[in-house]
Amino acid sequence: MKILVIHGPNLNLLGTREPEVYGSLTMEDINDSLKLLAKELGVEVAFFQSNFEGALVETVHKAASLYDGIVINPAAFTHTSVALRDAFSAVALPFVEVHISNVHSREAFRHTSYLSDIAVGVVAGLGLESYLGGFRGLVGKLRG
Ligand code: DQA
Repeated sequence: MKILVIHGPNLNLLGTREPEVYGSLTMEDINDSLKLLAKELGVEVAFFQSNFEGALVETVHKAASLYDGIVINPAAFTHTSVALRDAFSAVALPFVEVHISNVHSREAFRHTSYLSDIAVGVVAGLGLESYLGGFRGLVGKLRG
């Protein structure tokens, strides 16, 4: 089984970006923890980050023939991107949406997600554990 983890815009700045909201872990720290979890679960994992909506859309298209599922933190595109939603609908690849912060306790514009209702699951507000829980949950779902 192969899982792709996608990080959306500005997540390459984790570690220095608003640490009071997003904590001190870097994206590489998160990826390292996911690699350990993938090994424990006996699945393959790959990673992609982009600040560009089109690059994320194209990555979802390509993922359809390469991976069994996606864990994505769509970051700001969560709240804006019909294109990303349509990409997931088009490929029908199971995905879990994750957020480091609890988007529902923040500004009103973060309460809307263009992806949540077509995701297998959503995990928010648990920092690194959002990614780990989302990854574990997706693998469990895919294994039935
Ligand atoms: C985020 C929450 C989004 O609202 C925000 O735009 C991000 C990160 C999170 O992980 O908490 O960039 O997805």
